[in-house]
Amino acid sequence: MKRQKVQENMKKIAFIGCGNMGQAMALAAAKTMNPSDILLTNRTRAKAEAFAAVHGMTVCADNKEAVSQAEMIMLCVKPQMMQGVLEEIRETLKACLARGERRVLVTVAAMLKTEFYYETLGVSPDELPVVRTMPNTPVSIGKGIVLCSVADERYLPEIETLKEIFAAAGRFETIPESQMNAAGTLSGCTPAFAYLFIEALSDGGVMAGVPRKQAIELAAAAVQGAAAMVLETGKHPGQLKDEVCSPAGTTIEGVKALEEAGFRNTAFTAVIKAVERGK
Ligand SMILES: NC(=O)c1ccc[n+]([C@@H]2O[C@H](COP(=O)([O-])OP(=O)(O)OC[C@H]3O[C@@H](n4cnc5c(N)ncnc54)[C@H](OP(=O)(O)O)[C@@H]3O)[C@@H](O)[C@H]2O)c1
Repeated sequence: MKRQKVQENMKKIAFIGCGNMGQAMALAAAKTMNPSDILLTNRTRAKAEAFAAVHGMTVCADNKEAVSQAEMIMLCVKPQMMQGVLEEIRETLKACLARGERRVLVTVAAMLKTEFYYETLGVSPDELPVVRTMPNTPVSIGKGIVLCSVADERYLPEIETLKEIFAAAGRFETIPESQMNAAGTLSGCTPAFAYLFIEALSDGGVMAGVPRKQAIELAAAAVQGAAAMVLETGKHPGQLKDEVCSPAGTTIEGVKALEEAGFRNTAFTAVIKAVERGK
């Protein structure tokens, strides 16, 4: 039913760039669209071909062909590659718009503002919706976050379609473009920070005698459960922490060790450093 609804709104979607994020987003889209209507391009074509073969998607000859065939174009290359990609697709895109064909450009690139796309393409917001998104990699298993900024109220219908396409990606939130860098960095980088935390916790478990596989699974499940407690109870994380720390108990002993090593300040600074690096 959902697949049919998306299909009515958007016939084909193209992913330009099939790296970590392009693949994660394409997998999420495949849950609401016919996989054969998901078009892929990649600089190293063999990567797109291998991925398409496993998931029943379609590989385009090049980026121009993807733009001429798909209504929604997902730009999933690194920010430093974006200018080259935009210059490559510019004339094809303009020709599609001149024929009255609908196109929507969706970018996942960190930090680049929508003005950059309009200036490089030489088109105006009246001609082409450009929508900034910031997904994180757990979208590939339906547990991610897709942040989406609304630069122009006129694009709300396109954003609604985007939300339907990525309904199986996890959480979808619209935010002002001014918050995109900070919120996008927080949601985009946190999986890596959490992997580090889970790995370190499991090292502690191994040192205390838990077999490695079990230690990783227990640490990951405990972090997952704690995250669900924050989201589902609505309680402040500090309150939840207090609730598991018994007087003179084991947990408060571990909390003290984390505080002495500057854990809280390190996590705080990691986010700030990542935001600064993005700028
Ligand atoms: N990874 C994350 O967690 C994350 C989170 C949020 C946003 N993002 C954004 O997602 C974008 C991609 O990041 P990523 O981590 O997926 O990088 P990645 O793994 O390096 O993927 C980028 C892909 O783009 C391809 N590519 C480069 N130039 C191209 C061109 N001209 N035409 C077609 N494909 C081209 C590359 O092909 P090759 O195979 O030849 O290298 C590569 O497969 C970035 O803008 C990043 O800011 C990433």
